[in-house]
Amino acid sequence: VDPVLLPIPTSLQTPRLLLRISDAGDGEFMYSAATASASELRRFLDWAKAGILLATVEAYCRRQHGLFYTRKQLNYLMFRRDHGQFVGCCGIVRTDWDLRQFEIGYWLSTAETGQGLMTEACQAVIEMASSVLEATKITLRCDAENIKSAAIARRLGLSREAVHPNWRRREDGTWTTLEEYGLICSGR
Ligand SMILES: CC(C)(COP(=O)(O)OP(=O)(O)OC[C@H]1O[C@@H](n2cnc3c(N)ncnc32)[C@H](O)[C@@H]1OP(=O)(O)O)[C@@H](O)C(=O)NCCC(=O)NCCS
Repeated sequence: VDPVLLPIPTSLQTPRLLLRISDAGDGEFMYSAATASASELRRFLDWAKAGILLATVEAYCRRQHGLFYTRKQLNYLMFRRDHGQFVGCCGIVRTDWDLRQFEIGYWLSTAETGQGLMTEACQAVIEMASSVLEATKITLRCDAENIKSAAIARRLGLSREAVHPNWRRREDGTWTTLEEYGLICSGR
């Protein structure tokens, strides 16, 4: 089946969260959350290192809408179900439709960390990938220093499959190490 024709849900629910795809106008609240979390995000996300601008974030939201329907990326915005506030982003940031392998990616408002929200969101995305996308494998790439992200991977059942020393240089010239995690989806 052409992935464009797959009935991929534009929203997902978890006990505490509503996940939905982005649209024009979402940039403003995402910009506020990203700016408030800038020091955490800059450590591990290239787009945040470049500086967070409202226009760039709004353009990202609009572009992501298109990428969802062309099935190149499947990213969701996360909202608390109790008070409706935006808390972060979670989804599939790289797709290999031939092999049905999907890489997850995410960031959370710093104020919302420590409650298991990202683990909960990722679980919903992985379940969707397994059932609707017929995923054969879920992958995650993270900096070896990103202990919290590696903990999410492990909590979700992904195992560390590869370590790549001297992956990229930081601004100060020191090297980062990249870790790759993977989860083989049963029966495929
Ligand atoms: C990576 C990131 C999402 C991790 O956030 P997080 O809050 O640690 O992750 P979760 O929301 O899954 O919460 C897990 C924490 O909540 C705790 N927790 C509380 N209730 C929980 C529950 N019901 N289920 C799971 N964990 C729970 C866990 O013990 C853990 O806390 P600990 O680290 O003190 O042990 C966040 O730090 C972030 O956005 N960083 C910047 C961007 C980034 O690095 N993105 C990933 C790039 S690969």
